[in-house]
Formats: sequence, C-alpha cells, structure tokens
Amino acid sequence: MDINVVRGPTQVVVTGSTAGIGHEAAKQFCALGAHVIVHGSSLKRTQKAAQAVQEAGSGIATPIHGDLSNFTDVREIANQIAKALKQVDILILNAAMMYGPDPSDASYRPRVFGRPESDFIAPGGQDFAFAVNHYGQYLLVRLLMPMLNKHANVVFLTGIGNWDGNLHRVLTEVRPRWDLLHIRHNAYQSYFDSKLANVCTARALARRLGNQAQAFLLDPGLVATAISLDRNSTYFQAEHYKRRTFPTVKHWTAPPEVGGWAIVQAGFMQSATARHLDYVAPFWLPRPWMGLLLKLHRAGYDHIRSRMGGGHHFPQVYQKLTFGGMHQTYGPPCPETAQEQLWALSAQEVGLPP
Ligand SMILES: NC(=O)c1ccc[n+]([C@@H]2O[C@H](COP(=O)([O-])OP(=O)(O)OC[C@H]3O[C@@H](n4cnc5c(N)ncnc54)[C@H](OP(=O)(O)O)[C@@H]3O)[C@@H](O)[C@H]2O)c1
Repeated sequence: MDINVVRGPTQVVVTGSTAGIGHEAAKQFCALGAHVIVHGSSLKRTQKAAQAVQEAGSGIATPIHGDLSNFTDVREIANQIAKALKQVDILILNAAMMYGPDPSDASYRPRVFGRPESDFIAPGGQDFAFAVNHYGQYLLVRLLMPMLNKHANVVFLTGIGNWDGNLHRVLTEVRPRWDLLHIRHNAYQSYFDSKLANVCTARALARRLGNQAQAFLLDPGLVATAISLDRNSTYFQAEHYKRRTFPTVKHWTAPPEVGGWAIVQAGFMQSATARHLDYVAPFWLPRPWMGLLLKLHRAGYDHIRSRMGGGHHFPQVYQKLTFGGMHQTYGPPCPETAQEQLWALSAQEVGLPP
C-alpha cells in the first residue's frame, strides 16, 4: 500500500476519535492532510480531541459530538457531517465501549457490579453496549451511504473477541438484560456480541455497496487503550494507559499510535486481488495456527468462567510475534441469511426501512 497516494482533501470520518486508536488515527489522517471529523460522546472531550488532532498536521479537524446509543443524536451527527463534508472518502466505524475491564481482571466484578442499572440501558431501551457498538453505527452508516465516494473505504473495527460473540444472541430481538444482578458477571459478552454484529453488518453492507466502495473489517490486535476505563478516573485523564505499551510481559499490548496506524492503512487499503477485502489485521498467522490459537482463546475464556483468571492473552501474544504490515486474514462466519436478518432487525430497531 502506498500511503503517498494521500493528496488533496481526503475526507475522513472516525467515530470514537477522542481516545484510543481512533484518536491516534485521526491525528495521523490529519498529518497526511485530510479533513477529519473527530467524534466522541461528550462535547468537551470532542472539542479537546479535535484541537489535538488539528495540531497534529496540516489537515482540518472538525469536532462533532453525539452519543451513539441515542438514535436522535446519531441522526444529528449525520446532519452535521453532511454540513461539514462534500462526501466521505473514508469512514472508520471505530467507537465502542464495554462494561468494565477484561473479566480476568480482579476489578471486573466490583466495577461491573457497582454500576447503576441505567448504565446498561440505552435511551431506546436496548442493551447499552450493543446500542453503541452496533445499532448506533449501523444507523450512522445507513444515513451516510448517499455521501460515500464511489471508491470509499468503510472500515468496521472488530477484534478477536468477535469469535466469542453468539450469533443466536445477536439475532434475538430481546437481548439479555445485563442490568439484572444475577447475570452481570457475563455482561462482557455484550461487547463480543456487538463485535460479531459488526462482522455481519460489514458483510451485508459490502454486498450493498457493489463493485466500487468497499466495506470490510479490521482487527487491530491488542492495543493499550482506554476502552474499559471510567472517563472520570485520573488513570484515564492522565492517559496512563498509554504507558502500558508493547512489549509488556503481562499484556503484550501495542501502543495506541500503532493501532492508529493500522486504521490509517486500512482506510487506504485496496485489495490485491479482484475480490473485495473482508477482514484485515496488522498481524498474520497461517490458518492452522489461527485455528490452534482460537482453541486456546476459547480455553482461556473457560478458564475465566471457572474464575481462575488469565490465560486468554495467548492469542494476542502470538499475534504480536507476527506484528507488522497489513494482511488479509479471516473472521468468524456469519452466513448471508444471518447478515440479512440482522440488517432487517437493526433497521426496525433504529426506525429505518430494511
Ligand atoms: N484496544 C484494543 O486492544 C482493541 C482490540 C480489538 C478491537 N478494538 C476495537 O477498536 C475500537 C476502538 O477501541 P479503543 O480500544 O481505542 O477504545 P477507547 O480508547 O475507549 O476509544 C473508544 C472511543 O469510542 C467513543 N465512544 C465510546 N462510547 C461512545 C458513545 N456512547 N457514543 C459515542 N462515542 C463513544 C469514545 O469517546 P468518548 O469516551 O469521548 O465518548 C472513544 O473516542 C473499538 O471498536 C474496539 O472494539 C480494540
């Protein structure tokens, strides 16, 4: 991939670019001269982030804020984008949240059980994490479809957790009530389900975009970010998470700017073959290794379920051994019928025709 092809006013939207890899990607897009929409849920954080993005380069940073769990906000985000940009060349669907830290972390239970019930429910009554990570972005991409450049890249952020999503749960109209105390210990599964929903949606969208614009998935690998952090914590505000960088023995996380670079590369990536991209990652493993790692990964989660902790970072450790340029790899299955079912269910949920 030749990043030098970036000339002129490339118009980029990065959802969730106030922190983490989205923020780093926005800065890098701006450094390449792009006009970048910087987005986050809070006005204050989004304005501050846009200022940092603006200072990172010669492009333009426009802040647009709105909570993706709130579909009125999402419509307003789309309106604001339509006012700020003539078209969208690169759309990065990056924003996401999860209920608390990784479940192997000792603070998972106190932090998740300590949350008020309202944290689990979106304004429309849906599961909050699923609404942010899936419905909100689904609605946004549907509203922005007419603005997509015919050669646009639409990149959905996913991750190895998508293999742990449950298609049956994703396709049920009534999602589990994680606000109920007795099932809160499984609330992290909402994130995995939403990442599997991203897989299904990206593929359904790719079919609708036809031969020109492409929609595909990016797994950035394990990156040190703020995804499980309380935005009011000093740890988040002082950006301490950025110091947990690759290669630490415990997590082998990549620094956020490396994850950001993976996003930028995906934003400009073209398929080397006649087929469109489906799933890309900044690491590569031969298929049998990947199979083995996924087995270990699953074993890791069984481990967590039996509360012995740890173990599940294995796949990421191996991923990091092959970290480097972008590769085409493969994601979990989501049959076309399931993709279409989710597309229709989601349309109904957000108030759009199928
Ligand atoms: N970090 C990893 O290791 C990893 C691995 C695999 C996949 N991913 C994927 O990478 C993407 C970015 O994650 P990250 O790790 O960079 O997380 P992060 O640091 O927490 O950043 C998440 C971004 O999403 C925004 N966001 C969260 N809730 C929102 C809401 N309700 N409405 C609007 N925006 C919201 C946040 O903005 P505000 O806080 O300002 O609202 C923030 O800008 C996610 O899709 C994640 O699934 C990450």
